[in-house]
Amino acid sequence: LGTLSTTSTSATSSTTPPVTPPDTLDLNNIQGDILSGLPKKTQLYIFFQIVDVTKFRADLARFVPLVKTVAGVLKDRQLIKEHKKKGHKTLIPLVGVNIAFSHLGFVKLGIDDSSLGPATDPFIIGQFKDSVQNLGDAGTQTASGLVPNWDPAFVQPLHGVILISGESHETLQKKKLEIECIFGVRTIQPSIFQVTSLRGDVRPGAESGHEHFGFLDGISNPAVIGFDKDPNPGPVSVNPGVIVTGYTGDPSQATRASWAVDGSFLVFRYLFQQVPEFNDFLRKNPIAFQDLTPEEGSDLLGARLVGRWKSGAPIDLSPFKNDPVLAVDPKRNNDFKFEGEINSQFRCPFAAHVRKTNPRNDLEALPPPVGPISVQKNRIMRRGVQFGPELTKEEKKTAKTECGRGLLFACYQTSITNGFQFLQKTWANNPKFPIGQTQPEEPGLDPLIGQGVRSMSGTDPNNEEKVISGMPDFIIPRGGEYFFSPSLKGLRETLA
Ligand code: HEM
Repeated sequence: LGTLSTTSTSATSSTTPPVTPPDTLDLNNIQGDILSGLPKKTQLYIFFQIVDVTKFRADLARFVPLVKTVAGVLKDRQLIKEHKKKGHKTLIPLVGVNIAFSHLGFVKLGIDDSSLGPATDPFIIGQFKDSVQNLGDAGTQTASGLVPNWDPAFVQPLHGVILISGESHETLQKKKLEIECIFGVRTIQPSIFQVTSLRGDVRPGAESGHEHFGFLDGISNPAVIGFDKDPNPGPVSVNPGVIVTGYTGDPSQATRASWAVDGSFLVFRYLFQQVPEFNDFLRKNPIAFQDLTPEEGSDLLGARLVGRWKSGAPIDLSPFKNDPVLAVDPKRNNDFKFEGEINSQFRCPFAAHVRKTNPRNDLEALPPPVGPISVQKNRIMRRGVQFGPELTKEEKKTAKTECGRGLLFACYQTSITNGFQFLQKTWANNPKFPIGQTQPEEPGLDPLIGQGVRSMSGTDPNNEEKVISGMPDFIIPRGGEYFFSPSLKGLRETLA
């Protein structure tokens, strides 16, 4: 530990024997955010470069005991439950720390990460290049090629990210200082340089759990078979290997280096949301239907862009009216498959965000020769937290964004090609997806995250085909990177 040993740095796909998938998930070896999500009211992402490799390895060995595993998170969640049961109003000061590395980070450390993917893999290319090549992010032509219009911090090489989650800013700050001491930040011999840090906070009051457009978020993450005791109903259960490397479902578990087992790719995206503009768009385009007021017509349009009402109720089950009881019923609010809608977008537009990013039965029940297509390998475990202030009075008045706000989007998967990149490139940005439907109009882009010429179609409640074209950009990507979140064993035995 702490030294650059040749055995620990020479793990390659060619020298490492094939990995036998373990029977059960090793919850003490997997970082907590991957399967459980670190409990959070507030969260800090610290993006860093390694400036002194030898010292970093020694420092990392002292840092690893701070890393919270899935088992640790489960214990914390139990404590939170008991604390609430006792009627305490205050939150327990709990903190969770995780760490992940980019391809450039592994290169800097001298670790061969070629078993994580070929030279063309998004992880190896890095998100900076992938953003303009594959994700559709807007860019500017420069002497060195097309570069994304990103925040300058994300234009610099990033070697890794440290994630701190907690119940208060004080707890977060204390842990941040402890971590800065470990890596010698602000001493004459630091081992890392903090490129930037971003803080996200769960929104206040009744908006807690809702993203900035106002929709309840984090409802339909996949249930991991063998981990989640009470799997979601509906087609949202996945083999553990879709999320954690080395298990059934991992597309390349047999060829990944042993140090990569129990790890997962972390995709981070810095996504700005144009909230006043989004609200203004809904206000100006209410759906006229029966006796709906203009305000209710705007809510209906919003629900049809997302695929759920702001309450979280899915429109596939409650197409024209919010159903607050359904919204909070975990047994029912995920139990839908767009069944009976394979060739129809009467209840839910094909392009609606949740239908684009998880088409459920649209592909599973597609008849031959095109279907059936399983989306199991295209599932991701979404994390993320809101950043930025609530709307100001001025912004509400002018319908123009003055303050930056949005989502620190994060998700885990064992293949970025099948996971995040596929969802963004092949589904969200593709106006022809989902395939196989027979509507006269093509579905159009995902109205939230789709990048490109933004239009979408839908059959409105009056059963008329409508196309919304010239939709403004509601979400603007301003940075990000692809990371790999190694196991505790990997951190101790190979990285440190
Ligand atoms: C679901 C908002 C970015 C993939 C949702 C839901 C909301 C939402 C409100 C419904 C709640 C739920 O099912 O949990 C947003 C916002 C984003 C954003 C505001 C950006 C600021 C993304 C990105 C991706 C993505 C970048 C991936 C490329 C998904 C998936 C679901 C989902 C897979 C679950 C669909 C389902 O299983 O029904 N999102 N999202 N989202 N989103 Fe996003």
